[in-house]
Amino acid sequence: MDHYAVFGNPINHSKSPMIHGLFAQQTAQDLSYQAIEAPINGFVTAMNDFFSQGGKGCNITVPFKEEAFSFAQQLTPRAQLAGAVNTLLLSDDGQVIGDNTDGFGLVHDLLQYMVLENKRVLLLGAGGAARGVIGPLLDQGITELVIANRTDAKAQQLATLFNNRGVVTACGFTALTGDFDLIINSTSASLSGLVPAISPTLVDNNTICYDMMYKADATAFNLWAADQGAELVIDGLGMLVGQAAESFNVWRGVTPDMAPVLEVLRTTIK
Ligand code: ATR
Repeated sequence: MDHYAVFGNPINHSKSPMIHGLFAQQTAQDLSYQAIEAPINGFVTAMNDFFSQGGKGCNITVPFKEEAFSFAQQLTPRAQLAGAVNTLLLSDDGQVIGDNTDGFGLVHDLLQYMVLENKRVLLLGAGGAARGVIGPLLDQGITELVIANRTDAKAQQLATLFNNRGVVTACGFTALTGDFDLIINSTSASLSGLVPAISPTLVDNNTICYDMMYKADATAFNLWAADQGAELVIDGLGMLVGQAAESFNVWRGVTPDMAPVLEVLRTTIK
C-alpha cells in the first residue's frame, strides 16, 4: 500500500483525508492518506522523515506552501508560476517534485457554472492564494484580469509578474470601478468574517461571485455579494475537491469523479 498525507499547521480540521479516502475507494486504488501536523519550525524535518519512511507524495497547506516550493528538487511550470507548492510527488528516480494544483481546482469548479472565455474578471487579494490561480485563469482566455488589493503595491507586483501572459492590471480597492462578469475573493478576510472594502456597485445581477474560502454557513463575502444582488455566489468547497482530484491524478495517473465527493463533503460541513 502506498502512503500519502497532508501537512499543515493546524491540520485537525482538514477535509483532505476524507476526500482522498473517497477518491481511493471510487478508483479502487490501494493507498493510505493521513493528516500530519508539522511543527511551525519543523517543516523540512517532517518532509525528510515522511519521504525516508516511504511516503510517495503529499499535499501541503497553510503555512508551508512557500517552504514546500523551496524544498522541492524539481518544480512543474505551474508551481514555478504560482511561487508555491501544494503537492509533492516522489519520482521514480527518487527526486521530490513540487506541483501546484490550486489553480486547476478553481478553474475546474468555475467551469461547472460559467464559460470563462472572453470574460472580465476581478481578483480580490494579492497574497499566495491569488498568485496560485492567476496563470490558470489567464489560460482560459479571459479578456482582462484586474487584481485589486487593500495594499495597492502588492497588486501591482503581481500584475507586473503576469502581464506578459495576458491583459492584467492592478488597482487599489477605492479606485476600483468597472463591469465584471466574475469577482473572485482570494483574500483571507473571510477567515475573520470580514468583507474586502470594495464598492457594492461592482456587483449586479450579471455578476458571479466566488469566495475561495468555504464554511458551513455562507462566507461573509458571499453573504455580502448575495445582498448586492449577485447572479450567483459560489464558495471554495468545489475548488478544494478539484485541487485534491488533480493531486490524486498527479500521484496515481487516474482522475477521480469530483461531483459525488463534493456532494458528500457538502453534507459534512452543514
Ligand atoms: P494567502 O496565502 O491566503 O493569500 P497572504 O499571502 O497572507 O495569505 O495574503 C492575504 C491576502 O488577504 C492579502 O491580499 C491581504 O491584503 P494585504 O496585502 O493588504 O494585507 C488580504 N486581506 C487580509 N485581510 C483582509 C481584509 N480584512 N480586507 C481586505 N483584504 C484582506
